[in-house]
Amino acid sequence: MKPTREQAWQILTEYTKTKALLQHALAVEAVMMHFAKLAGEDPQQWGVIGLLHDLDYEQFPNQHCHKTAEILAEKGVDEQYLRAVCSHGFGICTDIEPRSRLEKTLYTIDELTGLINAVCLMRPSKSVLDLEVKSVRKKFKQPSFAAGVNREVIQKGCVMLGMDLNDVIAETIAGMREAAAEIGLQGNL
Ligand SMILES: [Fe+2]
Ligand SMILES: [Fe+2]
Repeated sequence: MKPTREQAWQILTEYTKTKALLQHALAVEAVMMHFAKLAGEDPQQWGVIGLLHDLDYEQFPNQHCHKTAEILAEKGVDEQYLRAVCSHGFGICTDIEPRSRLEKTLYTIDELTGLINAVCLMRPSKSVLDLEVKSVRKKFKQPSFAAGVNREVIQKGCVMLGMDLNDVIAETIAGMREAAAEIGLQGNL
């Protein structure tokens, strides 16, 4: 089956209670939907995969991606969803290479939403609504800032997408703005 947004949210919240993880899932959902529209593809499907991509992370961090595939398979979710979720761990916890536009996008923006989130939280406005690409670029070049964010993955992803890093950052910001309130990045604006 192809989960609806409601079904995906149900599955996600069954396994995930941590606010930061839910906000990350919502950020990735919003950005995936934004990129789907840019690519002329199905925002609903891209959004659902974004929502579910870290489904297992709270309870099974050591089996990341693999456990999600297992859970979704048990629920009868289509293979293409399982593959897409697993491909975001390419080179880290799976050997499933991103192939489709959807998979390449997920691979690229997953870490980037984390970096943008961290950049927003240190700004006076605490907001994504007035964030500029150059502020993200500055922190991208500073390895000590949000050190857990894998810059190499983001750069490899841009190559896969055939997009310039600045454009990927700009579109990721645009997607996150659409969900600013839900992801806690409206700030004081
Ligand atoms: Fe992940
Ligand atoms: Fe993630």
